[in-house]
Amino acid sequence: MCGIMGYIGAGKAVPVIVDGLSKLEYRGYDSAGICIFQDGKLKITKKKGRLTEMVQALGDFPLANLGIGHTRWATHGVPSDRNAHPHADCKGRIAVVHNGIIENYASLRKTLTAEGHKFQSDTDTEVISHLVEKFYEDSLEEAVRKTLKVLEGSYAMAVVCADQPDIIIAAKKDSPLIVGLGEGENYLASDIPAILGRTNRVYILEDQEFVVLTRDHVAITDFAGNPVSKEVFEVTWDPVAAEKGGFEHFMLKEIHEQPAALRDTMRGTIKEGLVDLSDFGIDDICDGVQKIYIVACGTAYHAGLVGRTIIENMALIPVETDIASEFRYRDVLWHPRSLMIVISQSGETADTLAVLREAKRNGVKVLAVTNVVGSSVAREADRVIYTHAGPEIAVASTKAYSTQLLVMYLLGLHLARIRRTRPEARLAQLAASLNCIDQGVEEVLSQQDKIRQLAEKYQGVQDTFFLGRGLDYSVAMEGALKLKEISYVHAEAYAAGELKHGPLALIDEGVPVLALITQDCLVDKTMSNIKEVKARGAVVVAICKENLQEACQECDEQILLPDIEQFLAPIISVVPLQIFSYYMAIFRGADVDKPRNLAKSVTVE
Ligand code: G6P
Repeated sequence: MCGIMGYIGAGKAVPVIVDGLSKLEYRGYDSAGICIFQDGKLKITKKKGRLTEMVQALGDFPLANLGIGHTRWATHGVPSDRNAHPHADCKGRIAVVHNGIIENYASLRKTLTAEGHKFQSDTDTEVISHLVEKFYEDSLEEAVRKTLKVLEGSYAMAVVCADQPDIIIAAKKDSPLIVGLGEGENYLASDIPAILGRTNRVYILEDQEFVVLTRDHVAITDFAGNPVSKEVFEVTWDPVAAEKGGFEHFMLKEIHEQPAALRDTMRGTIKEGLVDLSDFGIDDICDGVQKIYIVACGTAYHAGLVGRTIIENMALIPVETDIASEFRYRDVLWHPRSLMIVISQSGETADTLAVLREAKRNGVKVLAVTNVVGSSVAREADRVIYTHAGPEIAVASTKAYSTQLLVMYLLGLHLARIRRTRPEARLAQLAASLNCIDQGVEEVLSQQDKIRQLAEKYQGVQDTFFLGRGLDYSVAMEGALKLKEISYVHAEAYAAGELKHGPLALIDEGVPVLALITQDCLVDKTMSNIKEVKARGAVVVAICKENLQEACQECDEQILLPDIEQFLAPIISVVPLQIFSYYMAIFRGADVDKPRNLAKSVTVE
């Protein structure tokens, strides 16, 4: 997955592209590059490492009115200067930036090499520039169209040619791409934040769309050349919302945005005291459903695990939650009256998208829960419920997760209401508690200093364990993921009762164990497991509800949560874990927003 930014107009291309790429670094950041048209030639600058390395190599920003840029997350070929995009043809007159994977690149490369083309990189992308060179007669547009016919795989790409310095050609299949519409200038980008602040008028490209961009005109056709008429999408996001807003890191900002994100997601979901999602148009696909599959990746999968408990408990429908990369390759016994729910912050995760398509091929309706309007998942699903978390920039997901959890509760309560599986009084009580859950999150946020001190104390540890039972176990999994992804401390989540079947052997003097204790009905059971680890020297930090404080007295440290209904606890109990991970990463000097080896949006499998 990578970020693409392009500019054509009367202004200065380089600062616009560099700025756009900086907003896209969450898509990949192992190398960056830019190609501009200057003095009758294409000039390419590319560098391994963060965007700043490339910017340094550029020196004083050269003047140009056309350019394409790229931030890379390696798939074929290690991160290096040579593998960074843009990639040129043999003569350096054509340059390409690409996001996606060209699956048949090996055979194409063999043929092109036999025809005399000289390759400079190990990437799959470079076949595109050589194919365009091969097909080029006097029209870049025609050459790219011919190239697309032989490519297999996924791509969002932008192509420029020194002989036609007044156009950028772009094409999209299975990777995101948008066009920003300016006055006497136009933009291309992988995502909206890259052009926010320059224009709020965009075209969100669909698969198989082909764009000819000039400074005054945007022509969109399908791959065969038939015109496509598109509606302009007016972006209403505030550009500052995509900036750090006074916080040191996006992650901390996003942790603190959770109360507002929860309120936004909650909006319009309660009628007459009960959760009612009828306005979302989902009732037809939920009607008569006897089985639900929830499929997602990473943090979204963890939200799906909580979703299973909620929906089963509320709506009395059996739910199976699975990891998308597993689900897509197993022989699923599709239930004839089933519904698929896919959860994806970005709406672009390749495995999740593949599962969505597989479900549709099997005649199963798909409900998407996503944060990105116009994303692939949103477009391809039968119905969508959006999490209104706003742009999430930090790689580690926080506000997207809590809003995904909220949507799981809303769905569970909505289904219970229409299926009459729970007494109305209970549904009303849960709806009322959900409606003010943002206050519970605020309360936990106010304990940030205390949690920071804990992180300071434990910053030097090598291993940690996260324990819990029931819903607490699902949250423990998310807590462990957060800690390992940003602080690089080994963290394992375990169902508290399972510990003695193996991992107890790893508990040693001083090993921190973070215990989630929010389920009133399970507190005694979890405490017995805590005694087992304490007896082996572990230091136990309890994340427990105020009313359970007494029962948790034997724990070495306590982080107290407001006394909330146990069923709703995950939305609150995850917050201290997010803050703990954040400060562990800070004290250990890790790059919080851009953890090594990871990327925000995983558009390859
Ligand atoms: C990547 C991100 C995670 C995210 C996962 C699924 O691994 O780093 O934060 O949970 O992808 O992404 P999605 O956009 O589908 O929720």
